[in-house]
Amino acid sequence: MTALRTVPLAATHWPWVAAVYAAGIEEGHATFETEVPRWEDFDAARLADHRFVALDADLGLVGWVACSPTSTRPVYRGVVEHSVYVDPAARGRGVGRALLDALVASTEAAGIWTIQSGIFPENVASLALHRAAGFVEVGVRRRLGLMRGGPCDGRWRDVVLMERRSEVVG
Ligand SMILES: CC(C)(COP(=O)(O)OP(=O)(O)OC[C@H]1O[C@@H](n2cnc3c(N)ncnc32)[C@H](O)[C@@H]1OP(=O)(O)O)[C@@H](O)C(=O)NCCC(=O)NCCS
Repeated sequence: MTALRTVPLAATHWPWVAAVYAAGIEEGHATFETEVPRWEDFDAARLADHRFVALDADLGLVGWVACSPTSTRPVYRGVVEHSVYVDPAARGRGVGRALLDALVASTEAAGIWTIQSGIFPENVASLALHRAAGFVEVGVRRRLGLMRGGPCDGRWRDVVLMERRSEVVG
């Protein structure tokens, strides 16, 4: 890949963001979701100031990251949960890391202190990415969700809770 840039995720990016999201969903180890949402729902559920796409000069949009508040309670105002997806053709080349670094920089600048993510134990790439980006494993939540649809239909899934606690906020 040539030069990689991370820029804010805009509505105009949605067709490519949705395609990368769909590819991750199809693999069955990224999320409990089985369908890509409508842009309106995606947009409403995620913080507008803390979502980014990765643009490669040759390949175009190769990944995205976005996050949502975990709670409406004021005490948890600095805690978010994120998702990160990279185009299968662009994996293993630092795109996911660049996106997480952009998310960390942006959230820390806004006073957000904890970023968390639930990751299936089978998703070794995501576990490795998050460890490399400073996340630690809090624990494994056993048989937390029942998959409906997709290649893992009917399976109870464990979820590894990972988090990154900022050392500069709070
Ligand atoms: C998880 C995912 C985002 C990783 O993105 P990526 O661009 O391939 O990751 P990077 O190239 O930035 O790699 C970052 C680190 O993870 C490691 N890593 C990435 N893929 C790996 C794999 N398959 N096995 C082991 N380590 C891996 C890299 O070696 C690197 O570690 P290092 O910095 O110590 O060298 C990507 O595989 C993906 O989109 N998967 C489908 C969607 C998904 O599962 N999202 C996460 C939901 S929780």
